[in-house]
Amino acid sequence: MEAATVAPSAVERIPAIALKSSSTRNIYNYNPWFLLDTQAIERPNYAYCMLHAAQLAKRLGHERISAIEFGVAGGNGIAFMADFAKQVQRVTGVAVEIYGFDTGAGMPDPEGPKDLPYWFRAAQYPMDRDALQKKVPDATLVIGNVRDTVGSFVETYRPAPIGAVFNDVDYWSSTLDSLHLFDRAAGQADHFLPRIAMYFDDIIGSPAEMYGAYNGQLAALREYNNTTPDVKIDLNQNLLPLSHLRYRYQIYYAHLFAHPRYSDFLGDDQQGEIHNALRLQ
Ligand SMILES: C[S@@+](CC[C@H](N)C(=O)[O-])C[C@H]1O[C@@H](n2cnc3c(N)ncnc32)[C@H](O)[C@@H]1O
Repeated sequence: MEAATVAPSAVERIPAIALKSSSTRNIYNYNPWFLLDTQAIERPNYAYCMLHAAQLAKRLGHERISAIEFGVAGGNGIAFMADFAKQVQRVTGVAVEIYGFDTGAGMPDPEGPKDLPYWFRAAQYPMDRDALQKKVPDATLVIGNVRDTVGSFVETYRPAPIGAVFNDVDYWSSTLDSLHLFDRAAGQADHFLPRIAMYFDDIIGSPAEMYGAYNGQLAALREYNNTTPDVKIDLNQNLLPLSHLRYRYQIYYAHLFAHPRYSDFLGDDQQGEIHNALRLQ
């Protein structure tokens, strides 16, 4: 979890404050792509992943996808996902199933220095499961330690193809366990898009958090990538030129190279334009 002490940019701050008020919630009636482009939405990082996942799914001919949050806590993230899923369906025609993984009882014990025990500790961020389930009746809460739940998730829930994953389990150990979701893609490709939009929350933090390549989520990503030749999770380069977006360092893509549809050509529209532009004038 990022520290509240980090001042957001003015561009991010204005809509975030405005959208806390229920009277401004009808702004959701605007096209969600417009809200994303103008940053006039509470969680543009989540919106970016959900919209782009739905767009990829549509190109591949899917009518449904799944979006997953690892680390739900009180549930504000999953509540946004459940709300925004309706907007995604409105503009793309793709329905979004929502899943949230959490112990239900807050953070487990840290497992060593890479879990940043100077910042996180057991029982932080607990959930009121009944209240949350009432707020998001259509979302599925997968309760338990991800180390125990992620391995059987696909077989148990038979999710629509997973297209977006939000990772906010804070620890190195929990993040590494959650990434083993992709191990299932080898035998169960129908439940995954070939490329998955991901957000990692604990990459940018405060001087107290001191995230880096050798602790927390970044360490988990590096270690996971080193053991999985067919799955690589790497930073989404598209956003890097957009310096007003704080979350540009936190959106990743999981590339499932062994997915049977990884190499399906999807570039018809945009490649046509490039093709024309490259003709000798
Ligand atoms: C920072 S909170 C999540 C906040 C939430 N994403 C939001 O935006 O409101 C981190 C959560 O990760 C959960 N968590 C951490 N390690 C876990 C593990 N190994 N298994 C399941 N849940 C875990 C904790 O229970 C905690 O609720």
